[in-house]
Amino acid sequence: MKQPLVIFDTTLRDGEQSPGASMTKEEKLRVARQLERMRVDVIEAGFAAASPGDFDAIYSIAQIIKDATVCSLARANENDIRRAGEAIKPAKSGRIHTFIATSPIHMEMKLRMTPDQVVEQAVKAVGWARQYTDNIEFSAEDAGRSEIDFLCRIFEQVIKAGATTINVPDTVGYNIPDQFAETLRQVIERVPNSDKVVWSVHCHNDLGLAVANSLAAVMAGARQVECTINGLGERAGNASLEEVVMAVRTRADIFPVETRIDTTQIVPASKLVSQITGYPVQPNKAIVGANAFAHESGIHQDGVLKHRETYEIMRAQDVGWSQNKLVLGKHSGRNAFKTRLQELGIELEGDEALNAAFTRFKELADKKHEIFDEDLHALVSEEVVTPDHEHYKLVYSRVCSETGETPSAQVTLTVGGVEHKGEAEGSGPVDATFRAIESVAGSGAELLLYSVNAITTGTDAQGEVTTRLSKGERIVNGNGADTDIVIASAKSYLNALNKLYSSLEKVKAQGDV
Ligand code: KIV
Ligand code: ZN
Repeated sequence: MKQPLVIFDTTLRDGEQSPGASMTKEEKLRVARQLERMRVDVIEAGFAAASPGDFDAIYSIAQIIKDATVCSLARANENDIRRAGEAIKPAKSGRIHTFIATSPIHMEMKLRMTPDQVVEQAVKAVGWARQYTDNIEFSAEDAGRSEIDFLCRIFEQVIKAGATTINVPDTVGYNIPDQFAETLRQVIERVPNSDKVVWSVHCHNDLGLAVANSLAAVMAGARQVECTINGLGERAGNASLEEVVMAVRTRADIFPVETRIDTTQIVPASKLVSQITGYPVQPNKAIVGANAFAHESGIHQDGVLKHRETYEIMRAQDVGWSQNKLVLGKHSGRNAFKTRLQELGIELEGDEALNAAFTRFKELADKKHEIFDEDLHALVSEEVVTPDHEHYKLVYSRVCSETGETPSAQVTLTVGGVEHKGEAEGSGPVDATFRAIESVAGSGAELLLYSVNAITTGTDAQGEVTTRLSKGERIVNGNGADTDIVIASAKSYLNALNKLYSSLEKVKAQGDV
């Protein structure tokens, strides 16, 4: 009999701590819905005390998610725990995740607390959390560099105080699989009542070992893995959810555990997170990279054609890769469009949003005769910035680009409903278009990232553009898709400007977590 392995997704919390990966509430809700569809067990929706925006996003996620536990992070102080408790209040199943650092360097240099004080604070934190829920996770931050005797001592005390999940983070990605597994083995063996709690791991990828360390810990008794879609996260990221889940499933002969993840939702989740955060997935990334199932060499192709398992250990469709299936075309009606969106698990709120998306679908079908699932995802993403937030809107764009001449662009935008024209020259058509937009908007934002991806194959494919802008403390990502990449770029730039403008955009203020 296999034991359950709890999949704790922290894309919306640790993942969001990647520079520039900050998400709006609407974006977080979309990701949360997809995580629920994928059947993760716990969604760490944010850090409630970090900002009112974070609190609001966790609260809204707690209201809509029914099939996963919704969790908020909290430092081990009364205010953080109160905010976390209030944020998860609407959840069908809620959890408070409180943490304090336990390594000598963190206790001395960061917290300026003695080990005794740290234990006392951790116990108090669990006590405060119990006023809100019985589902309490305690993390010993930087456990990977903490002394084992001290870990055993603090874990014993927080279990006595009521913690139900004990998390052992390798916060700085310093551990090596055998060593990390040994840490888990020891704490599980030495801590009294260790069988009354779920042991968890949270590994960072600074040495590229986050997944290996997590899996080694599972072999040593961990029954919760904290991970993120595409391995997103602080610095080099966290353990990647898709790799952990598929390792456990593909090597069911080795692992004594199983997850309840619907693996066919992995690729859609990866694409959604990549598109929203602007973090591209490298082509050779395991499971979700564009080449993860592509066979280039003749010998491999021949082998796979004769018998798939000669070179493939997993099936592409099992992780949600579709065959670029033609789904809809110019003659498809509103019902077919709506049905396909439902099949893809895409929810649009209200008839108005559906009508707007359908109009855009028809416009796209006129330019591009074959519409694939990927096109629908991109099209619907554009609905995320609702018209209320569209302060800047593209009305018209024209570029002139010819050999030996400086490219130039003209644009017409509405700004708060009023039409303005702008023009500029640039080093290329995109640069000229962005400058023309800025000649109207005058945002003063700095362009941090610009990337273009073809959504499907073929030269008629839509280009999906991500633009990352920063202004003051704010960093936002804008997205836009079109068969014309200059127009996709303009849409993406304006999407980012709208987010900067929007009062809904939170200031990223997650402190030193
Ligand atoms: O990396 C870490 O230690 C964390 C904790 C807050 C769990 O993210
Ligand atoms: Zn972390």
